[in-house]
Amino acid sequence: MADARMNPEAPPAPDHAAVYRKDYEPPAWWVRHVDLDIDLDPKRTRVRATLDVEKNRGGPLRLAGDELKPLAVQVDGQDARWTLDGDDLVIELEGERHEVVTTVEIDPSANSQLMGLYASGGLLCTQCESEGFRRITFHPDRPDVLSTYCVTMHADAQAFPILLANGNKVAEGKGEDGRHWARWEDPFPKPSYLFALVAGDLAANSDRFTTMSGREVALNIWVREKDLPRTHHAMRSLKDAMRWDEQTYGREYDLDLFNIVAVDDFNFGAMENKGLNIFNSRYVLADAETATDMDFDGIAGVVAHEYFHNWSGNRVTCRDWFQLSLKEGFTVFRDQCFSQDMNSAAVKRIEDVRLLRAVQFPEDNGPLAHPVRPDSYIEISNFYTATVYNKGAELIRMMRTILGAQAFRKGADLYFERHDGEAATCEDFVRAMEDASGEDLTQFRLWYSQAGTPRVSVHLDHDAAAGTCTLRLRQEIPDTPGQSDKAPMAIPLKLALLDPQNGAELAGGERLVMLTEPEQQVTYDAVGATCPIVSLNRDFSAPIILKTDREDDELAALARVDGNAFARFEALQELALRAMLPAIEQGAALDPSPVIAAIEATLDAPDLDQAFKAEAIMLPAQGMIGERLEVIDPDKVHEVRRGLAAAIGRGQRAGLERLLAADRPAGDDLSVEAKGRRALRNVALGYLAAGDAAAGAALAKAQYDAARNMTERQGALAVLANLEQPQRGEALDDFYARYKDNNLVLDKWFGLQARAERAGTLEEVARLAEHPDFTLKNPNRLRALMSNFTANQWVFHHASGRGYELLADMIIAADRLNPQVAARLVPPLGRWKRFEPARSAMMRAALERIMETEGLSKDVFEQVSKSLS
Ligand code: TRP
Ligand code: ZN
Repeated sequence: MADARMNPEAPPAPDHAAVYRKDYEPPAWWVRHVDLDIDLDPKRTRVRATLDVEKNRGGPLRLAGDELKPLAVQVDGQDARWTLDGDDLVIELEGERHEVVTTVEIDPSANSQLMGLYASGGLLCTQCESEGFRRITFHPDRPDVLSTYCVTMHADAQAFPILLANGNKVAEGKGEDGRHWARWEDPFPKPSYLFALVAGDLAANSDRFTTMSGREVALNIWVREKDLPRTHHAMRSLKDAMRWDEQTYGREYDLDLFNIVAVDDFNFGAMENKGLNIFNSRYVLADAETATDMDFDGIAGVVAHEYFHNWSGNRVTCRDWFQLSLKEGFTVFRDQCFSQDMNSAAVKRIEDVRLLRAVQFPEDNGPLAHPVRPDSYIEISNFYTATVYNKGAELIRMMRTILGAQAFRKGADLYFERHDGEAATCEDFVRAMEDASGEDLTQFRLWYSQAGTPRVSVHLDHDAAAGTCTLRLRQEIPDTPGQSDKAPMAIPLKLALLDPQNGAELAGGERLVMLTEPEQQVTYDAVGATCPIVSLNRDFSAPIILKTDREDDELAALARVDGNAFARFEALQELALRAMLPAIEQGAALDPSPVIAAIEATLDAPDLDQAFKAEAIMLPAQGMIGERLEVIDPDKVHEVRRGLAAAIGRGQRAGLERLLAADRPAGDDLSVEAKGRRALRNVALGYLAAGDAAAGAALAKAQYDAARNMTERQGALAVLANLEQPQRGEALDDFYARYKDNNLVLDKWFGLQARAERAGTLEEVARLAEHPDFTLKNPNRLRALMSNFTANQWVFHHASGRGYELLADMIIAADRLNPQVAARLVPPLGRWKRFEPARSAMMRAALERIMETEGLSKDVFEQVSKSLS
């Protein structure tokens, strides 16, 4: 820094240094209590913070700030000696306990990062995780410093009639000049990242919940008055989640009040601030007219996730940000199980695995790969990843599989009891599981420290004469950035040998095999003279990539008879991949017949529900196919996949048409059964349109026009969006006209067009980026356009390289406003090593162009520099 100031020629040396997990030290000073007095104003908000600090290790008191200027600093009532070290306020302190008071002024209306205190749609609200509190006031702002809080807010009574903060409201009153004030106290010590306040003109959907011990909790969901009718599903989900956590984990809510507020501009899904969850409005607002079944399920999942954090995250929090998966992995696991219990468990499992493979596997196989518990970061916001969240959830799930549900529950109880009120580590969680179960998880811990998706290969030998079988298993852990020559992991594999005729489980039924060695054998006696088929990684018991030499007829048999629903789904997906891969890689002729036959058998199976059928007969996404290729040629992937879809549409036409001709469920019927029927109808529509575009367009337009809810309407529009048919434009225009005033639905309109698999989509995305309704300032809108675009492999990877240019331009522009959101757009470019040479070079060039941009944020700098290495 000093060098840059002395030499005006040199670019400022950016403060982009890495932080290391091994460097953790306990805080020098605790902060026992925080008293905030906040004079709210959209342009000039004054924050006076009174910190009750107590010596721990002692030494100077270092308070983090971010774009803050101290107006006054006092210690024990006296003006204090302080310095600024970069953004940090440093105060020399001796003794044991002091009162430190700082005053700053901030401008929420100028806060486009949406971190700290910011304005959104006339509201003032906060987002503090991970390091946003330091944008509001000077504070240690690290999760191992826990304090009680008392917050007094003053604001204009007309513009901000509702004033909310964590905990309970303890006093309020009128001020002068049309202002009023409210004081909130949170009795539970919490880290600063869980601080929140909201001020605005809000109305509440209010309800009550009686806890298992008979306490009454007031529940409120705060939105704009006109949005109240769309809050009922979120409220129902909240009560379901509260009941579920009592029944499943024995965890009860601890305050008398639970508030949720919906805001339109939000960097992620939602935030678990103590007693005052703040949500992206897309995870609150829904009715059948404007939200799809998937949206409804997403809301239930996120409401539950944030609620569950009250224990897994708030009562027990993280010691440092390297431990993020302690709260996120565990809480994702908890919300996944909740959704499994509320819906079809097998279908939810399939959806979660689909997401893991689509996002986490590529991450783990590329330049941004990192362990579930990372060892270093430049910007912590970049580590809210699928690895920390979703692979983290798989780790918890594996522990439950290994220990069994009962011992796992004992371990969770012990963990909560031991660490309540503390800032804990991933190690603490594993140790509680060990102590409660007696199981040794030493080798299992490698899942926290070793990145990369393990590859497991399985080969079955059958001795017909002896009637015995041997399974030969091998594991391999690929190298990842900074990690090579890894130790073998402890991999829990659920597997069974099946009779290929009827699926009967042979030789004692399903086994849980712990694969702990590089190579291992499992032997079976008394399996008979016919060679059994092997059902592997049932329920996706471990997050691995399986390599097997099972033949088409074995996969087809599994798809028909496997008693494990996940394995049955898997067999169908594998069958489709086996049909496509040779055609993509060697230009072999595509033989769709095994896939068509298996789909027919699945559609006809009397024992399967419709939601499962919809999942099982869907082809693997383009990105997933790409993952299985040595070198990706997106044109070939697209061509072969589209060819297979067309063949299925033609080959199964009668059956698919029958599905569409059947009665539709009522528009507002949200039962598992109704959702499944709608999902299967939409998949059927897609296949029919792939097989015959003109006929498909007519069917889709008819469904669009007759739609009784958004699932039907969006399903039809998504199909039409892919087709070069006149109904396409008509329906898109109609959709825009109908919903242009509803931002959440307008996001769908942007997203559907960006996701369309048609030659014109690239130019369409460029046009949409110039559309009057497009804005870089709203993260939902930016993601609707760009994330759907980059997930559209064929279009994004257009041979011209225009897609990369467009993305790079967008990242550079977004970075000036909102680095966190801009950085999340980088990973698709980071996959350059996986593509054929021409595209690979252009992707690299786009990354290099971003890298050369002046004033790049830490967030984008980290993602781009790592992506280039
Ligand atoms: N803790 C939140 C969750 O998973 C995630 C989150 C919300 C977040 N807002 C954020 C993470 C801003 C980083 C930055 O429930
Ligand atoms: Zn979370």
